[in-house]
Parts: sequence; structure tokens; C-alpha cells
Amino acid sequence: MLLDGKDQARAEAARPQRSPCALGRTRSGGIAHPIAWRLHTWMNVGVCCAAAERSEERATRPKLHVMGVYRDGVKGSPNMANASLTPCIPYNEGKGARPRVGLTIALISSSQILAILYDGGKAAQEEPRLLGTVENQLGIREYLESHGHEFIVSSSKEGPESHFQQHLKDAEVLITTPFHPGYLTRDLIQKAPHLKLCITAGVGSDHIDLNAAVDHKIQVLEVSGSNVVSVAEHVVMSILLLVRNFVPAHEMIERGDWQVSQIARHAFDLENKVVGTIGAGRIGYRVLQRLVPFDCKELLYYDYAPLPAAAAKAINVRRVEDLKEFVSQCDVVTVNCPLHEGTRGLVNAELLQHFKKGAWLVNTARGAICDKDAVAAALTSGQLSGYAGDVWNVQPAPRDHVWRTMKNPLGGGNGMVPHYSGTTLDAQARYANGVRSILKNYFEGTPQDPVNVIVGESGYATKALTLVKDKLRGWPGRAHLDMIRVTLTRPFVTVSFIISLTQPSPSNA
Ligand SMILES: NC(=O)c1ccc[n+]([C@@H]2O[C@H](COP(=O)([O-])OP(=O)(O)OC[C@H]3O[C@@H](n4cnc5c(N)ncnc54)[C@H](O)[C@@H]3O)[C@@H](O)[C@H]2O)c1
Repeated sequence: MLLDGKDQARAEAARPQRSPCALGRTRSGGIAHPIAWRLHTWMNVGVCCAAAERSEERATRPKLHVMGVYRDGVKGSPNMANASLTPCIPYNEGKGARPRVGLTIALISSSQILAILYDGGKAAQEEPRLLGTVENQLGIREYLESHGHEFIVSSSKEGPESHFQQHLKDAEVLITTPFHPGYLTRDLIQKAPHLKLCITAGVGSDHIDLNAAVDHKIQVLEVSGSNVVSVAEHVVMSILLLVRNFVPAHEMIERGDWQVSQIARHAFDLENKVVGTIGAGRIGYRVLQRLVPFDCKELLYYDYAPLPAAAAKAINVRRVEDLKEFVSQCDVVTVNCPLHEGTRGLVNAELLQHFKKGAWLVNTARGAICDKDAVAAALTSGQLSGYAGDVWNVQPAPRDHVWRTMKNPLGGGNGMVPHYSGTTLDAQARYANGVRSILKNYFEGTPQDPVNVIVGESGYATKALTLVKDKLRGWPGRAHLDMIRVTLTRPFVTVSFIISLTQPSPSNA
């Protein structure tokens, strides 16, 4: 029997507010949906059916298990792990709820989702908006469990006995965050036969061996753009606190001292300084935008992908193509490129020699882009006046990490904090929502937003190629000499496509 629109609407309205499980939803057996939906809506009858629970069985068709017989509107959710007849408690909550005798059918492919998040402790208990914590679990537990999935959340991530390594063996989806990275190496990927999807709650998936993910057909997605403003604001703050010598000034006040000259001897204005970013993507560009009102002498960028002319003009930024030349012109350098094979250790002892003496360096991209010891040595010698950021080559940073305590010759110049610039409460709301939509798309088989895809179903996302195709599609075929330079920043290699388009000669025009 087919339902007309009114029936469908009535049935929708009559659905229990808290469904015991997702109706008719199945990833492994598409047939279930129409049968379940019609039985539920037409007869108000349902039987909760779990797909094969054990991951070994998931490859096969889902098996039907009668989970419950109940009146419409059931409190509680069936335990999908025990696929047996489960008595359900009828209830009559809510206005106008009409008890209806029936069964509800749903075919569910239960998946194990593992999340490695940071411990929130008391703060997370007191502040529910700390969504990225073990305690608050990205706000997605109810959503996942109501769809019959098993959700395991832990901060334990180091070593073979960690929850990370133990549960990875059965996990189909892994959620990690750059703020407390679960490092997913090739070795661990090989021990995770059911892993299909990795989601980074935030931006930057360098803690995952992406080549291994491609080889094992594991998709990797992140919530692009979710915290770019948060980081850009932190960068601007860090530039100011270094240039204005803020940290030693505050420490002096806390100590009970008051010696203005000691601070002022190394405090400057940002106005009239040259500020440059390595990487002018979402964050780098936003940093430059925010610096415009400071009347810097010049804004520069180093990036192998040039900004669109209009974007560069809007903030009056100049591109410098040679990295050494670039750093030698900057009073302040900020690092805003991803960590990949081409940027690991990019700011090393050799490059630091090309910096202006006494320059300031801010890195909120990834700790491993800057050589730890070379930066500490440059700060101690005064080659750098200051170094600030929130990212470390290992996280959490060991207690004796040199960046915690390094100082310039005047006892200041350290603006290091734990990795938090991209995990403000505003950012957490955005990336938690993003994780939920990625999961929803995955379970419902809906295409993912391409901007979030790092590794897709058929390998690395090829944004650059798409861009080239788009450019070519609109090409008039009679124009002038032009050059499109497109850079593929992922995988961890740089591939530049340079396409020259010349005006056809009159004979072949
Ligand atoms: N600290 C935090 O909380 C935090 C939060 C978000 C992102 N991040 C980091 O910031 C990075 C940048 O984020 P985004 O959103 O701006 O990324 P994006 O992809 O929008 O921009 C990155 C830019 O870097 C450029 N780039 C890549 N390799 C380069 C190289 N070798 N030299 C010069 N430029 C290069 C790219 O062309 C691109 O323009 C992320 O990859 C992540 O590592 C940190």
C-alpha cells in the first residue's frame, strides 16, 4: 500500500518523540527502508531489528532481530547489542499523545564510533559548551545511540593498552581532535580492519597517516573553516603581546614589582612594522585582514598558491615568492600553512638566519613546522625577539619542553600557551555541529561537503583539478595569454599545475 502525502504527514506527526531507534534506516541493506517505513506509518507497527552486531558480520546482509513490541511512544532505547525480544514501557508523555498498539520496525546497521577527546574535568561539568571534551562528547551521544550505534569516548591515547588502541580494532568511525591528537599511524591503521571514516573535530589532519588512509580506503574528513576566525584572532593577539612585551609586564605586576623602563626598553608599536604570513589560506588571509587597521608598513605573504588579485588588492598585500627573501623583509612572521612533508621543519636554523635580527615569530599552525631547538636557540641568542603560539611538536607537551620556559636575553619573548586557539566555545559549537553533519551524511549515504574532504572514497580530494576544470570550462577560446597556477596542498606533497592558454592564431581561431 502506498501512502499519500496526508497519510505520511499524519504518520510523521504521530511518531514517538523519542524513537527507540532509527526507523527503516539501514546502511547495509537498503530494502529495509520502505518496508519499515510503511509498516510503521500505515499500521503503526514496528519491529526493531538490529543488523549484525559484530563487525565481522557487517559485511553480510543485516539480520532481522525482533527488538521490541510496544505502543507507539516508547521510553528508553533498545539495547542493540542484545538483539532479542525486549519488553518496552509504554508511555503517554506529551500533549495529545495517543497510545497505539503496535510494533516498530527498523533495520539498523550498528557501528562502533570511537572518539578520542581531551579531558574536561570540572570545567566540562560546569560548562556544557565545552563540547570537545570527554565529558560532553561533542553533544552527539544521544544522536548516535538513538540510531543504534555504540559510542566510545576516551582521552586515553598513548600506548598499546590505551583505549584508543584497544577500541580502534573494532571501530568503524574514528573521531579525533588536533587539540589532543590520537596519532593514527600506518601501523595502527593496519590493526583497524573495520575503520572506514576518520573525522577531525577541527582543522588539520596531520596526526593521521593520510597515505595509509588512502591505501586502506579510509575516508578522512575535517570541519574546514570551523575555527579559522578563532585562530586568526589568536594570531593577532599573539603578535601584539610579543611586539608590546606584554607577558613580562604582566608577570612583573603579579610579582609586586613596578619598573616601567625594564618593560618599555623592549616594547614597540605594531604600526609601521612589516608583517608577513607563511600560508595565506583561510587563517593567513584573515590574519592579514585583521591587521589592516594597524597601519603596518607592509603586509606580505609567502604561499605557492597566489591569492586572487581582488583578494590581494582588498588588503593591499604583496606576495614574495622566495621564502628567504620573504622572512628577511618581515619584522613579524606568522605561520599559517598546514603541516606536511614540505613544511615539517620549514622554519629551521638555516632559515632563522635569514630573519631580520630581533624579529617576532608566531606559529599557531603546527608545532613541527618550526624546529624546536633552533627556535629556542634563536630566542636565547636574540636572533628572535619573541616566539608565540599554541601548537607543539608533541601534544600534550612534555613538562620539560624547552618552549615552555625559553626566553630572550631580556627575560621575555615567550607567548606559548596550550593548544586552544581553535577551541574557543564558539569554535567548539561549530566543529561539533560539523562532526554531526559528517556522521549524518555518512550514515545516510549523502555526499559530504567537498570542502571537508581530505581523503575521499577514491583517494585524495582533488580540489585543484576541479578548479582547473572549472577555469577551463569558461575559457572563451579567443583570449589573451594567461597562466593558471593551481596547487594541490594535500596529499603531503605539493603539485603545481601550470597551464598556459594562448590566443589562438587567426587561422585556427
Ligand atoms: N592552532 C589551532 O587551533 C589551529 C586551528 C585550525 C587550523 N590550524 C592549522 O592552521 C593550518 C592552516 O589552516 P587554514 O584553514 O588556513 O588552511 P588553508 O588550507 O585554508 O590554508 C593553508 C594555506 O597554506 C598554503 N601552503 C601550504 N603549504 C605551503 C607551503 N609549503 N608554503 C607556503 N604556503 C603553503 C596553502 O596554499 C594554503 O593557502 C591548518 O592546516 C592547521 O594545521 C591550527
